[in-house]
Amino acid sequence: MAYENILFEVRDDGVAVLTINRPKSLNALNPQTLEEIDKALDEVEQNDKIKVLVITGAGDKAFVAGADITEFPKMNSLQAYKFAEKGQNVFFRLEQLPKPVIACVNGFALGGGCELAMSCDFIYASDKAKFGQPEINLGIIPGFGGTQRLARLVGRAKAKELCMTGEMISAEEAKNIGLVAKIFPAESLLEETLKMASALAQKSQVALRAIKRVIDEGVGSDLRSACLLEANAFALTFASSDAREGVQAFLEKRKPNFKGGYDS
Ligand code: COA
Repeated sequence: MAYENILFEVRDDGVAVLTINRPKSLNALNPQTLEEIDKALDEVEQNDKIKVLVITGAGDKAFVAGADITEFPKMNSLQAYKFAEKGQNVFFRLEQLPKPVIACVNGFALGGGCELAMSCDFIYASDKAKFGQPEINLGIIPGFGGTQRLARLVGRAKAKELCMTGEMISAEEAKNIGLVAKIFPAESLLEETLKMASALAQKSQVALRAIKRVIDEGVGSDLRSACLLEANAFALTFASSDAREGVQAFLEKRKPNFKGGYDS
């Protein structure tokens, strides 16, 4: 499908790059952009050539500066509910995608932008990136999962501080509180992120899928049930041709060539 508000590129190395492309509005998320992200996720899900997804923002200023505030005066409460629901559904889809997703945060990640980044598996940020949930300054609260994902990622007190004050934090502070995995100089962020994405695309997709599911599902359960989930997934990865290839390659002192299949 043709997109107006995003760019979507599938590279030969199995990495797809989704770029939110409304730089004049600092890549703010309007309903159409959410719709286009949703459609792109169909492509990511259906295209077996795509092993890893990278999400970034166009231009050098913003990843995404939030939901599009110019849409707000047009909305009544019910429409606001539906907008929040749409954003939440798209971000849940992203979170549950059976492929790794890296947020490449090249600038402001505010409101819906911070929420989008938190729905990815991990965040690589430029040294110039800024994070925050500034909705309080508009007299509203985060609506795309921000209060919940932030609390789960950085703890309740820090999440409350960020949502209540609306203050922006630097990439450095975001890394210190566990929101950001790695920081790169702005000029090399995309290249470094793509390098890591490409490396993930070479790994066992069976094992990557299992890691994502076990961590996401397990974190919400008690430790005993979560470890049972892990043991089951561990056993399942053992039944993959990737596991045979990985172990064999180690013993033969060569690089593994993972194909992503199970034993028949
Ligand atoms: N929705 C719609 N438009 C937005 C936007 C948003 N969330 N964030 C920025 N823009 C637009 C601005 O209105 C401006 O448009 P204009 O050139 O037509 O006036 C353009 O993007 C550039 O932003 P500007 O504010 O001029 O840049 P700045 O460098 O002075 O400030 C920010 C950058 C990110 C600090 C500031 O734009 C901001 O606070 N944005 C809103 C963040 C927010 O509250 N997000 C949560 C929304 S629920």
